[in-house]
Amino acid sequence: MFRPMRERAASATLAFSFDGQPLTGRAGDTVAAALLANGIVACRETPVSGSPRAPYCLMGVCFECLVVIDGVGNRQGCLVPLAEGMRIETQHGRRQFGEDAA
Ligand code: FES
Repeated sequence: MFRPMRERAASATLAFSFDGQPLTGRAGDTVAAALLANGIVACRETPVSGSPRAPYCLMGVCFECLVVIDGVGNRQGCLVPLAEGMRIETQHGRRQFGEDAA
């Protein structure tokens, strides 16, 4: 469904994980683009119904791309550049703060 518009042969390959699954992405891609390129379309669950949601606008407007990155929740995957070794996780419901996070 999603594929790069053109190949960037010179782009470095970055290793990252999503929910513990090792994956690779291209330097210069956002977290959301890297997830979509790996066939991952559900990156969060809604707080009310728990329904899966996927990146939609890819420009910071819809907030459907929220993920947990390196333990920090509510990160907009479409605005965060992918980095080597990132631990990305599905965001389940709302972000947890302080003692709620334990
Ligand atoms: S995909 Fe819409 S804000 Fe990230």
